[in-house]
Amino acid sequence: LNIGVLVSGGGSNLQAIIDDCENGEIKGNIKVVISNKEDAFGLERARKHNIRAVFEKNEDKVIKILKEENVDLVVLAGYLKIISPKFVSEFENKMMNIHPSLIPSFCGDGFYGEKVHQAVIGYGAKVSGATVHFVNEEADAGPIIMQDTVKVMDNDDAKTLAKRVLEVEHTILPRCVKLFCEGKISVEGRKVKVSE
Ligand code: GRF
Repeated sequence: LNIGVLVSGGGSNLQAIIDDCENGEIKGNIKVVISNKEDAFGLERARKHNIRAVFEKNEDKVIKILKEENVDLVVLAGYLKIISPKFVSEFENKMMNIHPSLIPSFCGDGFYGEKVHQAVIGYGAKVSGATVHFVNEEADAGPIIMQDTVKVMDNDDAKTLAKRVLEVEHTILPRCVKLFCEGKISVEGRKVKVSE
């Protein structure tokens, strides 16, 4: 399948997907990486792997590029921009997002990047983790595909927790992309069935 990845930052989740496409784990092909940030290192990662890399802030142009590349799956990998209902409807249940907490906790507007981990620690939660979900009109609220957990240690700060959660992200996001490409993910309403 043809994959399009949207990034805003370092692109470590993108790199995990690139690696699994190159080693054959993911039966898919990243056609384009698009960022709303000109200096996103994720664009650099794409260039290094001879993947089309585009800086584009205008959503209509982003949709146009994804369509001209015949993308079957859009992956939001650290993409810090709200997706409009129009964009969602173009890729209904064909757009995945990774969020660094166990949705529905610590998610929604204002909860992104380190702010998520600050809130988890501030709350005194004992477990956190990451969630991959399909994107719908409400931020971080689409049908959940996969989650995995990490322990919150007493001496954790946002940085140490973020690092531990990022490792989980790098495992479950490529796995969800792989399973999608193998046709092993089906959605009925809010329920997602994954045949692993
Ligand atoms: C990280 O905070 C991650 O939890 C979230 O996006 C941020 C950047 O990730 N998914 P990446 O290194 O750009 O993939």
